[in-house]
Amino acid sequence: MNKKIKVKHSGIIKLQFYDDFPDGALVIGEAGKSVPFEIKRIYYITNLSNRKAVRGKHAHKKLDQYIFCLSGSFRLQLDDGETKQNFIIDSPYYGIRLGPKLWHTMTKFSRDCVILVLADDYYDKSDYIRDYKQFMEYVKEDK
Ligand code: TYD
Repeated sequence: MNKKIKVKHSGIIKLQFYDDFPDGALVIGEAGKSVPFEIKRIYYITNLSNRKAVRGKHAHKKLDQYIFCLSGSFRLQLDDGETKQNFIIDSPYYGIRLGPKLWHTMTKFSRDCVILVLADDYYDKSDYIRDYKQFMEYVKEDK
């Protein structure tokens, strides 16, 4: 990741990389340390063989998350209501923050793409904003 993140409520963390060559490599994240919150939930996304798959297309009111690409690559579009940015995510060491009030969309998954997300809270349907107009209203109210 060599692109500067300009959208609000995002950011980047780099996990500790431990090169165990020729026996692989370890990547380590610790809650409250490299991952700056207590992790309450993890989820991962696999089986991304459909080239046209689209995920995300929502924002959260309060939830804070970091998204990682453990294998392969995908495109992440972030939109804070004012600024939009696209990133190709293809490194297992970097986590991109999906903070609250950030519309995020994931596309262009490679066949071998595996995504890991660390979240600071449990699943809560009412925390989602799935309508883009509502999102724009929500971020406008928030200013
Ligand atoms: P969603 O968050 O929209 O996935 P993505 O952001 O990857 O596109 O979730 C898809 C569905 O899965 C939705 O119906 C809610 C459900 N879901 C849970 O039940 N628990 C969870 O922790 C998550 C992330 C999703």
